[in-house]
Amino acid sequence: MKKFIVDRRKFLRSFFYALLSFQLIYVFVRLLKIKIPQNTQSDLYDAGDISFFENGKMYPFGSAHFFLHRFEDGGFIAVSSKCTHLGCAVQLKADSLQLECPCHASAFNSKGEVLSPPASRPLDYYPIVFKDGKVLVNIAHPVRRNKFEQAQIKYI
Ligand code: FES
Repeated sequence: MKKFIVDRRKFLRSFFYALLSFQLIYVFVRLLKIKIPQNTQSDLYDAGDISFFENGKMYPFGSAHFFLHRFEDGGFIAVSSKCTHLGCAVQLKADSLQLECPCHASAFNSKGEVLSPPASRPLDYYPIVFKDGKVLVNIAHPVRRNKFEQAQIKYI
């Protein structure tokens, strides 16, 4: 009878440690999941069919706070409309591919590069994904940058 009680104690202790281990693993996995940014469907803004966008034109998406530019060679870039000086909303200058800030007159080209200060760095840009013939812009993850690089242009 005594042996049975000792075995039962051992069993309960082992069971307790196993349960504790599973709980720690669960918490650890949950923490990892929180730290890994993933593209959820709601992060991706559907800008429209790829075929809709003409080469050499820029399209404003005011409610999503970005401008989508399709270059002459067919590449795309989505630049934020938030000025890198103090955060005002830049506007597309009529009949041009230039973006201007109404607050302190910074200006940017279609790649988001600074043409005139006081802004000192390019507009942030948003990663683009092509899926099922659509242009999807990841508006949840703006990318801060200090200069324009060719790799920021996305091709089909
Ligand atoms: S906020 Fe745009 S130039 Fe100052």
